[in-house]
Amino acid sequence: MERSEVARYWEANADTWTRHVRAGHDIYRDALNTPSFLAMLPPIAGLSGLDIGCGEGTNTRQLARLGARVHGVDIAPTFIRHAQAAEAVEPLGIVFQTGDGHALPFEDCSFDFATAFMSLMDMPDQGRALSEAFRVLRPGGFLQFAILHPCFVPPHRKVLRDEAGRAWAIEVGGYFDAIDGRVDRWWFETLSAEERKKDAPFLTPRFHRTLSGWVEMIVQAGFVIERFLEPRASEALAAAQPVVADTRVGPLALLVRARKPGPPVPAS
Ligand SMILES: C[S@@+](CC[C@H](N)C(=O)[O-])C[C@H]1O[C@@H](n2cnc3c(N)ncnc32)[C@H](O)[C@@H]1O
Repeated sequence: MERSEVARYWEANADTWTRHVRAGHDIYRDALNTPSFLAMLPPIAGLSGLDIGCGEGTNTRQLARLGARVHGVDIAPTFIRHAQAAEAVEPLGIVFQTGDGHALPFEDCSFDFATAFMSLMDMPDQGRALSEAFRVLRPGGFLQFAILHPCFVPPHRKVLRDEAGRAWAIEVGGYFDAIDGRVDRWWFETLSAEERKKDAPFLTPRFHRTLSGWVEMIVQAGFVIERFLEPRASEALAAAQPVVADTRVGPLALLVRARKPGPPVPAS
């Protein structure tokens, strides 16, 4: 699928997506993935960072609240408009602008760190996006990103549940199929039937790669892998937010931190 077509899908999702995530429907993000991501993040106070595929900017704002000077880029102008509107209401010094992860609108060595929360796997040429992240980082800078877990969210995934509705296994298939732009149609799980009548489902193009494919692309871009993390809900979180209880059986996301060789840039 052409990059311009992918961009059109995200632009079409952007208004509804912003409304739904800000109403709290992205429970995997808010309850599990972002807290895990931030816990894994090295100190960033005083550093300059770029959030790639920032969407409506909720996670970018979290980075700014940790004391970083942050830019956010997204392919979809409507997401950037919503992010800028939130910045106008609560100024955190974030610069949001439209931009393509495959051709970042920044000079070489512009940032101390980069993040990408669940966005790299949505790009058709992830190797190129990783190389772009590498290019805009200073030596010693790091990229930390979250993606759908290549092993547990391949082209086919089904959560198997017992009679009480408890997840006990994850059925997966098509792991070796490098799909390029299969369009998935879905809503956030907590969206009511009423709301589903009002709002069309999201249409999101998928670009699945294997785990070894990701490692290969990260290393080819020039990075040294530093950490992997697979967020798992605690028993207490799974009880409070049953939507994420399936992550006690197998992870939904994979978090990766990789560094551009050089002495690490110290945070203030
Ligand atoms: C699953 S959403 C995640 C949004 C946000 N990072 C978050 O965690 O809430 C994926 C985001 O990637 C963006 N995206 C997709 N392809 C992109 C590209 N080539 N360059 C920049 N952003 C892109 C989409 O517009 C969308 O905002």
